[in-house]
Amino acid sequence: MSGNIFYTKAAKYWANVPATIDGVLGGYAHISDIDIKGSKAFLNDILALKNAPGTKLALDCGAGIGRIAQNLLIPRFGKVDLVEQEERFLAAAKKRISETNERLGSLYNIGLQNFIPQKKYDVIWCQWVLGHLDDFDLIAFLKRCKRALNTNGVIIVKENITSTEEIEYDEEDSSVARPYKLMQLIFNEAQLNVIKEDEQDGFPSDIYKVYSFALVPSELENRPFVLTL
Ligand SMILES: C[S@@+](CC[C@H](N)C(=O)[O-])C[C@H]1O[C@@H](n2cnc3c(N)ncnc32)[C@H](O)[C@@H]1O
Repeated sequence: MSGNIFYTKAAKYWANVPATIDGVLGGYAHISDIDIKGSKAFLNDILALKNAPGTKLALDCGAGIGRIAQNLLIPRFGKVDLVEQEERFLAAAKKRISETNERLGSLYNIGLQNFIPQKKYDVIWCQWVLGHLDDFDLIAFLKRCKRALNTNGVIIVKENITSTEEIEYDEEDSSVARPYKLMQLIFNEAQLNVIKEDEQDGFPSDIYKVYSFALVPSELENRPFVLTL
């Protein structure tokens, strides 16, 4: 499929989805709390590292209606920026989080394949959106994110992972789920090292496995990361 069709089909799908948690989670609103609980534990571990990222500024990528920004990032970061291509979702995020919440930062209405982050972020959170980028755009996007990290900054990727070795394409929303090995290759290609990974537990058995990966630039390979427990 040509890149354009892959992206326009996805944009059309999301343009017809209600701006609700159930909408952005494809009818799985009931897993939101457990997802956020798992993400909180993962983020807490990252913020407890000896060389932990700061907590000034985070970026929520493919932010939807601000589910993650509101429940996970805003409680922990001074400011949170959102990037999301569906304008209605950003408007809903503004309402949910409240325009007057001083922790709500800049809102960028653009696809990640075209987005060039201009600030330095402590944490860049990408969840359930990277399947909307093809492999080349994903590698390029991760490289741009890498350049946009503050000192000790971390990129967190939380995505569906296939249980086969194959890429699985979803006709309905025009996204892919990738096998674990391909994710590793992509991180490698973007020169990112995985410093922590976890499989989300407690999800229903009829959905994909979901893994969280914490990534840092591989130039910093020898930086000592030590959990302070
Ligand atoms: C499954 S929802 C997840 C939303 C949010 N990350 C969450 O977990 O609540 C996928 C989101 O990605 C957005 N999206 C799809 N393709 C995108 C792209 N190319 N760039 C940015 N956002 C995109 C959709 O509009 C939708 O909000």
